[in-house]
Amino acid sequence: MSRLYLKENDLPFYPNWQEIFENSNPIYVEIGVGKGDFILEMAKNNPQVNFVGVDYSREVLRSAVKKIESAQLKNVRLIPMEGAKFLCKAFTSEAISGLYLNFPDPWIKRKKAKNRLVNEAFPWLLADRLKLSGFFRMATDYKPYIEQTVEFFLKTGAFAPLWEEVIRTEVEDFYLTKYAKKWLSLGGTLYFTGFKKIKRVELPNWVKDYYPLLKISRDELLPIVNILKLNQHPDFKKLYETLPRGIIYQKEENLVKVLDVYFKDDGVLVDLLVKEGSLKERFFILISPYQKDGVILTSHEATPPEPTDLVHLAFVLLCKEVLKVYPSAHILKTTCKEKLLKRYLNLTC
Ligand SMILES: C[S@@+](CC[C@H](N)C(=O)[O-])C[C@H]1O[C@@H](n2cnc3c(N)ncnc32)[C@H](O)[C@@H]1O
Repeated sequence: MSRLYLKENDLPFYPNWQEIFENSNPIYVEIGVGKGDFILEMAKNNPQVNFVGVDYSREVLRSAVKKIESAQLKNVRLIPMEGAKFLCKAFTSEAISGLYLNFPDPWIKRKKAKNRLVNEAFPWLLADRLKLSGFFRMATDYKPYIEQTVEFFLKTGAFAPLWEEVIRTEVEDFYLTKYAKKWLSLGGTLYFTGFKKIKRVELPNWVKDYYPLLKISRDELLPIVNILKLNQHPDFKKLYETLPRGIIYQKEENLVKVLDVYFKDDGVLVDLLVKEGSLKERFFILISPYQKDGVILTSHEATPPEPTDLVHLAFVLLCKEVLKVYPSAHILKTTCKEKLLKRYLNLTC
């Protein structure tokens, strides 16, 4: 596999970018790189900067990978990933020096506007991840989106506009991609804005609730494992029949839902959906034998979930269900959060 392309599942929390790029140059991120024309041009002209581009469409990234590979650029990495999740997972506070957002999907219909990457929470996330004096630059052909973006950025108190005119229709140093040129040739207008981080701010709790990965600390990054001693041979058929299906936890929009349960010769596979703030995770918990008289609950290796509060809760609630079937069982080992074990299992560690 090329060093240029990193898979999402291979990206650990807070990777060592210095090791990845083999230097400590500043990092600029582009979210929504599309076919990669912009990042290619920027990386060619700024060899002293490392560029990381993300796009949640693997298909479009493929052509970006080809272009950058043939230009033999060493200062670019591309990752198929959602942009806000990437910022939460790939960087600690004040780790990046700039962020570009070019022609983000505008979601014009009012009902769909909640899908926009830049919402009220996003500038707060960026205020945390950007270094002091780091920049944000956005280009779009959709005026209402850029106007709203400006409003949200100014509201944080962390940013100052780069230019006297906060929204401009021309900037000298913007590389015009094919898309931008075509839009201009059709008589369209482009809108640009830019901000510089001028102040450090404390992240409000509602922002952390919206981006739950922000609540995970380094010492909580262990894989989640639970071992239950049943004191008898596990009966997986019985577990398969009794485990609940449907929503097992809900608070406002956040939920844990069992989508399905599968019976296997050597255990039970539980298909789960966890919605928490802006994050949606689909993963499997495997309940398999542990020694002769126990079971172990782990996430299936093909779908490792991010260890957020609600993912921990999903494990705790499944342990609770197993304990209902085996009332004399006890937990031998757990890496679940103590507060959840106390609240849902009355367990003190
Ligand atoms: C309209 S295209 C613009 C592509 C490119 N920036 C350009 O100027 O040609 C928007 C791109 O952003 C990607 N995208 C949209 N929202 C995203 C998000 N939240 N995270 C990552 N990529 C996103 C889409 O897959 C698409 O490739």
